[in-house]
Amino acid sequence: MKDGYKWVGFQYEFTGNIYSLGQIPKCKSTMLKYLKPGQKLLVAGAGHGTEAIRAAQMGVNVTAVDLSATMLKHLNARLDKCSGIKAPMTCINDDIFNIQDTEKYDMVIANFFLNVFPEKRVDEVANHLATLVKPGGYFVVGEFVLPEKGFAGLLQKLNWYLAILMYSATTEAALHPVHDYARLVRGSGCDIESIEYFRIMGLNLYWSILGKKKSA
Ligand SMILES: C[S@@+](CC[C@H](N)C(=O)[O-])C[C@H]1O[C@@H](n2cnc3c(N)ncnc32)[C@H](O)[C@@H]1O
Repeated sequence: MKDGYKWVGFQYEFTGNIYSLGQIPKCKSTMLKYLKPGQKLLVAGAGHGTEAIRAAQMGVNVTAVDLSATMLKHLNARLDKCSGIKAPMTCINDDIFNIQDTEKYDMVIANFFLNVFPEKRVDEVANHLATLVKPGGYFVVGEFVLPEKGFAGLLQKLNWYLAILMYSATTEAALHPVHDYARLVRGSGCDIESIEYFRIMGLNLYWSILGKKKSA
């Protein structure tokens, strides 16, 4: 299986944390408050599993999927060191498109996952993720904000391009403008229930979008 993070995966979590002055880890876990112990969560492109581990500590049944064996190795190393895990976690080293558990999950989280796909592919990925959510369940996207107009927008674009230039040079991630993640969530059949922003010096840089899948 292709492992695009073989050489850079080790530093991924640490660098994201430092780069965002701690805002990215907060963004990843913020919507877990909508889950209860015993519910089912799928984390797509789980990486080092910050939110997956936090959810398992809450007693949520987590399935973490990642194409990169390196990323899952780091997730498992963190999991082994963590205390207070209250529910089992299933880690699957596979392409998310091979996960066909239609309407199985109370929540599907895609944190900094949709941004690895090019514009021509990202709708298909978001729509696939939404098929895994139960009717009435949640589809959560944590990402770089859509740039605003004016000077704030320039800084938001700079923040995105610094990150994507590094990762498109070293991984399979595609170089593209910031996707409109709110549009993607709506387009996948979800209503947006809540959006939380994560800021540095008052500037919105990351957002977590809580989509609720329409009931059947
Ligand atoms: C930018 S990283 C984000 C990791 C993590 N969600 C985070 O926020 O730290 C994207 C992750 O998605 C994984 N990935 C990329 N394409 C994938 C696919 N088709 N199926 C499953 N995982 C994939 C990569 O291996 C990588 O771990």
